[in-house]
Order: sequence, then C-alpha cells, then structure tokens
Amino acid sequence: MKSERILRMTPSATIELEGTVADLHAQGIDVIGLNAGEPDFNTPANIIMACTRAMEEGKTKYCKVSGIPELRQAICDKLLQDNGVAYHPDQISVSTGAKQALFNAVLAVVNPGDEVIIPKPCWVSYVEIVKLAEGVPVLVDTVPGTFALDMRAIEQAITPKTRAVMINTPNNPTGAVYSEESLRKLGELAVAHDFYIISDEVYEKLIYGKSRHVCAASLSPEIYEHTIVVNGFSKAYAMTGWRLGYAASPRDVARSIASVQGHTTSNSTTFVQWAGVEALRGPQDSIARMKEQFDKRRCYLVEALNRIPGIRCANAEGAFYLMPDVSSYYEKKTPDGKLIADSFGFCNYLLEAAHVAIVPGAAFECPNAVRFAYSNSLEKIQAAVARIEKALAALK
Ligand SMILES: Cc1ncc(COP(=O)(O)O)c(C=O)c1O
Repeated sequence: MKSERILRMTPSATIELEGTVADLHAQGIDVIGLNAGEPDFNTPANIIMACTRAMEEGKTKYCKVSGIPELRQAICDKLLQDNGVAYHPDQISVSTGAKQALFNAVLAVVNPGDEVIIPKPCWVSYVEIVKLAEGVPVLVDTVPGTFALDMRAIEQAITPKTRAVMINTPNNPTGAVYSEESLRKLGELAVAHDFYIISDEVYEKLIYGKSRHVCAASLSPEIYEHTIVVNGFSKAYAMTGWRLGYAASPRDVARSIASVQGHTTSNSTTFVQWAGVEALRGPQDSIARMKEQFDKRRCYLVEALNRIPGIRCANAEGAFYLMPDVSSYYEKKTPDGKLIADSFGFCNYLLEAAHVAIVPGAAFECPNAVRFAYSNSLEKIQAAVARIEKALAALK
C-alpha cells in the first residue's frame, strides 16, 4: 500500500536514466553518457586529505545539527567574499547536499496549499520537493530561446497564496545565468508580496563568457530578509558523492531548518564537514582548471549541435548543460518503424541506436527539448555527436 504522498510523486528521471546507463555498461555496451549532472573530475587531493585527517583525529562523532562552527564560519566568509553578503554563523545550516538544504527550506516555510512559483524548464526535483511538502507548484515560462526569467509571467502568477519562488542560477537544465536586473525585480516582488526567494546557486562557480553570478540576497537588506540562499560543494569542488551543502537564511528560517533537520538526518557527516572547510579555505585552482575544460566542451558542443539538421541550440553561459530544441524530429519514424512521439522517444532512440544517453526535456517541464550534460571528455562528446548525427540521419 502506498501513501497518497508517494502516489502523487514522479520518480527522478535523471536518477532512473543513470541506473539504465549503469546496467548497459555492466552488459559491456559502450554507452556515452551525456546525462550525468556531475563533474567528471576527481575531488581535489587536498580535500580528500583533510577528510582523512579529520577521521584519524577522531572527528567522527555527532556534532551540532546545523554544522561545525569552523565550516559555518568558512561559509560566512565565502558568502561575504564571493557574493558580498554578510551572514552570522547562526544563519548557516549545513546539510547533506544542497538537495537536503532545498527540502529543509521548503519544509520550513511552505504550508499545505501554499503556492511555490517555479520558472521552467526547471531541475527535476523542485516540483517533487514542493509536492512532498504539500505545497502547490506553479510553473511559469521563461523567455523562449534564452531561458531568462520572464518577470511578467512571474508577476502574473503571484497570488495571496504565493509563499516562495524557487530559482536556480546558473541553471540546470538550461545553462542560463539570470541577470542582476531580473533578480532585483524578483527581489522587489518578494518584498512587496512577502514571499521567499529560494535561490539555488550550486553552479555559481561554473560561468563562462561575460555573464556574472549575482546572489539575490546581496541586492538589498529587504531582499536579504526574503531570501534563502542554497549552495553546496558537489559541483564547484567535484564532491557529488560527499553529500555536503548548506542554506543561508534569515535567523528565524535557520532555526526552523535546524528543527526539520534535527528530526530527519541530524548533522551532515562530521568528517565531511572538515573536508568542506578545506574546500573553502584551501587552494581554489582546481575550479579554474575544471572550468577551462567545461568551456572547451561547451563551445564545441553548441556549434556541433547547431550543425545537425533540425536541432536548434541556444548558447548558454553557465553550469554544464545545453538544452537544444529537437522537436522537428517528433513524428519521424525509426528505421524499424517506431514513431518518435516526444522527448522520451527521442532519447530512447538515441540510447538504443547510438548508445548515447541524454535526458528528455519533459523531465524538466520542457517537452520540445533534451538536456545534454557536457560532463564527459571532449573526445567522448565528439564521438557522441558523430553517433547522434548518423542515428538521426537514419530517421524517416
Ligand atoms: C539545480 C540543482 N540543485 C541542487 C542539486 C543538488 O546538489 P547536491 O549534490 O549538493 O545535493 C543539483 C544536483 O544535480 C542541481 O542540479
């Protein structure tokens, strides 16, 4: 018997696809994965060493639910230095990944029936997190082509029940980086209508080209009081498996977050938090090296995708994703006569015929597109493009 909560939920398409790709690999099939939302780099050695040291020193016990003071202070210093926004360690809640921080934030501020506006395309988990909290996700369009925030659409979606807007900049799945102007406008709306901006900034360090990351909380003292900043270590420091993230919020929200986490997971792993201190306080050159590789792949992939007939791919300046429109292939038939009806059909066909894994846009509320993650080597990306071109040319 399943709870209504579970019946309302859609399983994570990205995690399911990851499982399928792993199964195919296990069968000896050479699948090129352009689906994974994680950097293909190792965690820097200094971070690994800090963790080992912490374990050897016996830092293996429970600690305060919201995190060790050393990490919370390091996070405050980072937020001030990188984002120009001042927090006290009491306002920092360290969690088991940014995903838990997002969950905590929604559970802390959203009542059953409250509305949470989510610009789409959006990360797969946002809608489900809101639904699990018994809130109502209200999806609004972004600007076609650029995926920038459509401020008019957001404004029109605001009702007395609006409790929060969940944003992600730089964005998964589109790679869009939101402008200061749009974030300021959003902040003004949050203040005027008294809702929170839940600002997911996990891809902050991965911006290419001229765009600049702006943290919504930095825009004014009033906007700061209406913003919950979520960030983590997975993407910037290639630490996906370590499960470390955090939220920075107004004090009362931080207290609520601590209550939620105190009854769920308690503190995130103590020695991993020491690794987090090293990530923030130690050398940062690994980020620049990783970014350089991502940028090369991005430049190649945008051009290569746009050369394939029927694919339109806007350039994007952040994260490690591209979201081309592939809808001109819908209604075509595969060589064995199957209809490609939608983004799921398109991705299934490429997985079967080209052994390339990409994620259907429908999973991100963007049915005309698919998501490419360039979190694989340039050689593999080039090989994937060649396979895709061949497979698409065989469609009728
Ligand atoms: C937009 C976005 N937010 C949050 C997360 C979760 O990050 P973490 O690994 O810190 O839980 C991800 C991971 O893919 C993401 O893409």
